[in-house]
Amino acid sequence: MPVNTPRWSRRHAVVGLGVAGAAGLLAGPARAAARVLTPRQTEGPFYPARLPVDSDADLVQVAGRPGRARGTVAYVTGKVVDPAGRPIGGARVEIWQCDASGVYHHPGDRRGPADPNFQGYGRAVAAADGSYRFRTIRPVPYPGRTPHIHFKISGPGFEGLTTQMYVAGEPGNRGDFVLNSIRDPIVRRSVIVPLVSADDLEPGALRCAFTIVVGRNAG
Ligand SMILES: [Fe+2]
Repeated sequence: MPVNTPRWSRRHAVVGLGVAGAAGLLAGPARAAARVLTPRQTEGPFYPARLPVDSDADLVQVAGRPGRARGTVAYVTGKVVDPAGRPIGGARVEIWQCDASGVYHHPGDRRGPADPNFQGYGRAVAAADGSYRFRTIRPVPYPGRTPHIHFKISGPGFEGLTTQMYVAGEPGNRGDFVLNSIRDPIVRRSVIVPLVSADDLEPGALRCAFTIVVGRNAG
């Protein structure tokens, strides 16, 4: 799916962001100020051609396999909310990403084979408070792309969204053409999250929080 630029522009015009919206975003979930709608990003060529049998929210462990995915474990958490910050419980959240060597579980990725102990794709349903959580690996760069995780959000009552999440401080962020297709720096920043230690959850693991803001459907 191509980047939907006109749609993207309209979404942001409707929300009427600017400084007030950015302040709301940065102030955290307690603020009721209108938030930056999470920008649309290309789906890219590697959404699974066939969903894996094990499609749960733990991508590090594939059911029936004794091994664990290569790479650094990362807990990717967050909330799905509307522009007013109200949670969207029941939203379906899908993620997919390459393995620790930069290879996707996809027949179109000729760099393979991908790590058989990495699920590559997972899905979760947001809880009543909008929260979701995945156990996956820290995303890594591959030729032409800075580290990222693909997201697809869907469900009734709100606009579906395909986007990508990025890691703060990655040197490749500056030159990544997909990330930098988001022209507004405030909107661009909304898809870049810091990864910090999650030793309390699992030794050596990392965590991040990615808030996903989607528009409600009219009516
Ligand atoms: Fe990708």
